[in-house]
Amino acid sequence: MKDELDFEQLVLIMGGHTAFQILWAGVKLGVFEALSKSGGMTNAEIGQATRLEPRPLRILLTGLTSLRLILKDGEVYRNSEVVEKVLVSTSPDNWVDVLGWQNYIVYPGEMDFVESLTTNSNVGLRRFPGNEPNLYARLAHDPKLEKIFQDAMSSLSNSANTYLADQVDLRGVRHLVDAGGGDGTNAIRLARANPHLRVTIFDAPTVCKIAEKNIEVAGLSGRVDTHPGDFFVKDFPKDIDCILFAHMLTIWSPEKDTALLRRAYDALPEGGQVIIFNMMGWDDETGPMTTALGSPYFLSIATGEGMLYTWKEFESFLAGAGFTQTKRIELPKDHCVLIGIK
Ligand SMILES: C[S@@+](CC[C@H](N)C(=O)[O-])C[C@H]1O[C@@H](n2cnc3c(N)ncnc32)[C@H](O)[C@@H]1O
Repeated sequence: MKDELDFEQLVLIMGGHTAFQILWAGVKLGVFEALSKSGGMTNAEIGQATRLEPRPLRILLTGLTSLRLILKDGEVYRNSEVVEKVLVSTSPDNWVDVLGWQNYIVYPGEMDFVESLTTNSNVGLRRFPGNEPNLYARLAHDPKLEKIFQDAMSSLSNSANTYLADQVDLRGVRHLVDAGGGDGTNAIRLARANPHLRVTIFDAPTVCKIAEKNIEVAGLSGRVDTHPGDFFVKDFPKDIDCILFAHMLTIWSPEKDTALLRRAYDALPEGGQVIIFNMMGWDDETGPMTTALGSPYFLSIATGEGMLYTWKEFESFLAGAGFTQTKRIELPKDHCVLIGIK
């Protein structure tokens, strides 16, 4: 059982929208980056770096300090330890780009959370131009927003996929399909960690274009390629023995996930494997916080039908698709891997 909520935590939740904007300002105006580079700055020095007038600067610094994002020691401000790790772009583990997605996609879309709950649909999608029923198809109309989205996914994946590459043994795999592979972040990481491996990214045509540029820059054009299309409709590539679903099955309903896994099952040879890599909810449905705060996005905005399912639920999707053996691997940052064998 968790502790009782106290008054300060309640105030933080009630003003969560403002707290997020204070944090976003710290990122956008370069406060965290400047404090990281300098090791500490006074009010006047931060004012010079951000070009803010004294009153807005005071409001921002009081906000950042009260939220403990930055700490004030005498006249000098410095980043808190967790900000140095997560919100400074030079940190290998940073989530800076995740905030662009939060600000431009999640933030406006969650204005429609209550209506999304009562109608069990993604009412928040109306904040994004287009007629398509899900966010991913609508993003194709807006290259700037699509890039913000892909950068966020890449940032999330980058900070967790080292563990994926370390913990999942791909020595026996020849050709892996990264279904919904996005900009290629995971594919590139896995190809680098496994020099024998061929990887194909199966994603929408506009997204595959972004991935192709990244593959070229990574110097992996011979081993990593793309297969543009809709994986609910188009066949999976031929001659494969492993399919990865990274941050993917949270998008769809249990029925669609099972159907998609069934398509994966049919595309694999006997002994082939499917890997699910995701943040997963605890089986008792009390957390963790990352999944509890992540699920509303899938209901209100992305598709209206997904959520961050529990380990048990993912396992039931695998079983429903015909996979017999499953293996659980717990990773840091609330990430988990489930492996199903055909
Ligand atoms: C949440 S992102 C995950 C990206 C990447 N796998 C990662 O872990 O960073 C979901 C990806 O699925 C892709 N996607 C959604 N629906 C799809 C479909 N029907 N066919 C192929 N790709 C799809 C989106 O374009 C997007 O790149």
